[in-house]
Amino acid sequence: MAIRPIVMLGDPVLRTAADPVESFDDELRELVSDMFETMYHAEGVGLAAPQIGLSKRILVIDTRREDDPDGGRLALVNPEILAVSRATEKASEGCLSIPGLEEFVERPAVVEVRGFDPEGNEITVEADDLLGRALQHEIDHLDGVLFLDRVSALKRRMLLKKWRKLQDEDE
Ligand code: NI
Repeated sequence: MAIRPIVMLGDPVLRTAADPVESFDDELRELVSDMFETMYHAEGVGLAAPQIGLSKRILVIDTRREDDPDGGRLALVNPEILAVSRATEKASEGCLSIPGLEEFVERPAVVEVRGFDPEGNEITVEADDLLGRALQHEIDHLDGVLFLDRVSALKRRMLLKKWRKLQDEDE
């Protein structure tokens, strides 16, 4: 297992629709282990493969650390959203590729997702709360979409301004 570097906002891989995984082999399982380790190291609850520079449709999530008793730990390959609730919910989100920024994002309250585990078994998950939100956030990553795209234009401008300021302070 290895911790992989996380790519930051501005890297084109974060804006690219990722390719489906075709073989469920040891290489994939090794990659999933690395993604979990990278996510835990960064103290995140979710990570998508493009965030470590790989344009592949893979995500890992572990929401158990947050106050989400029904949360779960899962790795999903080639996930797709089957259904979303009409009801929506607003909650604060952040992203390991945009550290320092957080904003309220409105999303469907419940989501049903189908994908494959790293062994190639099909799994279907229905989730709400943090797990449901994390699934939607990470699947967005696989389509080149960031949470910044899901807030108002005004909020996005403010967030990007803050991001540039944080980058300047780092230099
Ligand atoms: Ni993210």
